[in-house]
Amino acid sequence: MTSKLHWVAFILAALTFSIAFSLQPDQHKVLLISFDGFRWDYLYRVPTPHFHYVMKYGVHVKQVTNIFITKTYPNHYTLVTGLFAENHGIVANDMFDPILNKSFSLDHMNIYDSEFWEGATPIWITNQKAGHTSGAAMWPGTDVKIHQSFPSHYMLYNESVSFEERVAKIIEWFTSEEPINLGLLYWEEPDDMGHRLGPDSPLMGPVISDIDKKLGYLIQMLKKAKLWNTLNIIITSDHGMTQCSEERVIELDQYLDKDHYILIDQSPVAAILPKEGKFDEVYEALAHAHPNLTVYKKEEIPERWHYKYNNRVQPIIAVADEGWYILQNKSDGLMLGNHGYDNALAEMHPIFLAHGPAFRKNFTKEAMNSTDLYPLICHLLNITAMPHNGSLGHVQDLLSSTAPRAIPHTQSTTLLHGGVKPRENEQEESYAYFIGVSLGSIVVIVFFIVFIKHLIRSQIPALSDMQAEIAQPLLQA
Ligand SMILES: *[C@@H]1O[C@H](CO)[C@@H](O)[C@H](O)[C@H]1NC(C)=O
Ligand SMILES: *[C@@H]1O[C@H](CO)[C@@H](O)[C@H](O)[C@H]1NC(C)=O
Ligand SMILES: *[C@@H]1O[C@H](CO)[C@@H](O)[C@H](O)[C@H]1NC(C)=O
Ligand SMILES: *[C@@H]1O[C@H](CO)[C@@H](O)[C@H](O)[C@H]1NC(C)=O
Ligand SMILES: *[C@@H]1O[C@H](CO)[C@@H](O)[C@H](O)[C@H]1NC(C)=O
Ligand SMILES: *[C@@H]1O[C@H](CO)[C@@H](O)[C@H](O)[C@H]1NC(C)=O
Ligand SMILES: *[C@@H]1O[C@H](CO)[C@@H](O)[C@H](O)[C@H]1NC(C)=O
Ligand SMILES: *[C@@H]1O[C@H](CO)[C@@H](O)[C@H](O)[C@H]1NC(C)=O
Ligand SMILES: [Zn+2]
Repeated sequence: MTSKLHWVAFILAALTFSIAFSLQPDQHKVLLISFDGFRWDYLYRVPTPHFHYVMKYGVHVKQVTNIFITKTYPNHYTLVTGLFAENHGIVANDMFDPILNKSFSLDHMNIYDSEFWEGATPIWITNQKAGHTSGAAMWPGTDVKIHQSFPSHYMLYNESVSFEERVAKIIEWFTSEEPINLGLLYWEEPDDMGHRLGPDSPLMGPVISDIDKKLGYLIQMLKKAKLWNTLNIIITSDHGMTQCSEERVIELDQYLDKDHYILIDQSPVAAILPKEGKFDEVYEALAHAHPNLTVYKKEEIPERWHYKYNNRVQPIIAVADEGWYILQNKSDGLMLGNHGYDNALAEMHPIFLAHGPAFRKNFTKEAMNSTDLYPLICHLLNITAMPHNGSLGHVQDLLSSTAPRAIPHTQSTTLLHGGVKPRENEQEESYAYFIGVSLGSIVVIVFFIVFIKHLIRSQIPALSDMQAEIAQPLLQA
């Protein structure tokens, strides 16, 4: 009798397992979210229950080394290309390309000049070339025509469009008749307020709380659309933020003649283009001007920044120490928070969390490079990555398929190992789904059992004893 039970249990387990496995939702969908300027440790400044919810049921990387310079456009382009700034060509928010004889500036429409972006091919294009569909809600660069393409769906950049409207678009695209497999969602905060208030301001608390509420809203909407358990969601940022002060200003006018150079990019990495014949004069005047300013000729820029081999890196760059501000003239005015500094500084580092069928649960990793995100997403989308500077191997431990058990995420495994009960709302949908599948299987099994009943009378193969160990908890569950 017990061996018969084992046999039944074995078939039930095997069948349930295979059905649950074959009906498993498509695991190849990714939603990438950037909250601009979300420093890695903002998570601990005020209660951030929604971020912690994602961490508990997903993965968290504590220190993400982003790329130099730690500015918005360079880093967002790295996240979607896996390339260093010198390789993707978006070397700053403000650039001049001497070959193209053109400028690029965040504050002007010339960010729409395709030529600046075409040193690389962003992931949405590669995804589309592989026959898939991408959708972007204001991710930097996604409304620019690059290599003759736009994302399949995108929104023209308009900072007045609310977070809720952006989320609604993303959900619409993921649930449409021809759903996207890659979504990109961008939000300007907490960067804006971080610049204005300075990250040390107590007023940053409510700003961070508000982002947590926005994440809560996103989770709620994804659950409502039945996407929460099927999408792989990655929440990250481009850079952190550090406190600045009027007491820490380096005023270029004190050292340089304004007529001898053009200031292409300002602070904290001044990109200096000396006028014809003025290179030595400018360099000498600045080289030892201020103890908190390190001045490099282009060829002297440290290799570790991967910030040398591009036409758009100017002949002289002057890098301020953390918290120091470069101004041409003090009357120019400064912001109380800034970023752009050395990417080795912890305060420049962004958050990184992920959740979904492909990711482990409640897993914390110490460190990664932001260039590794691109091969990771390509892997999740099952598309071939373009040449890049990251490494999938360095982040593969975030994935559930490399976890100790071979298929740890399938719901049937959860049951087979007994005890693991769905907590909070996390597993609600997939749990119900599993129950449905199980009940269906039981009906099939009952008929099946009636047929084979006589065949298994005496000779239960040794196999059944082997499986008994796994099968028994299932009967008890
Ligand atoms: C670069 O463009 C400017 C106008 O933007 C023009 O005056 C100048 O002659 C151009 N230089 C070269 C070398 O073409
Ligand atoms: C930007 O969005 C706001 C709010 O939706 C809208 O009122 C405004 O017309 C938009 N601006 C442009 C240029 O589309
Ligand atoms: C800064 O600008 C003001 C007003 O334009 C000017 O009077 C002052 O001389 C400038 N400072 C320096 C150091 O050049
Ligand atoms: C600024 O320079 C002084 C003098 O060299 C140094 O003691 C200080 O640590 C520097 N500040 C930063 C933030 O590196
Ligand atoms: C998450 O992992 C930590 C240790 O890494 C453990 O203390 C905690 O109980 C785990 N939480 C859950 C919900 O499994
Ligand atoms: C980041 O990349 C560098 C250079 O490839 C490598 O040496 C380092 O181990 C990487 N860091 C992590 C945490 O993977
Ligand atoms: C991944 O893509 C290849 C084609 O590039 C396809 O043959 C394969 O079945 C896909 N794998 C999965 C798991 O979808
Ligand atoms: C980064 O990747 C690009 C493209 O493969 C390559 O040309 C470049 O040499 C790489 N940089 C480094 C430092 O490996
Ligand atoms: Zn930014």
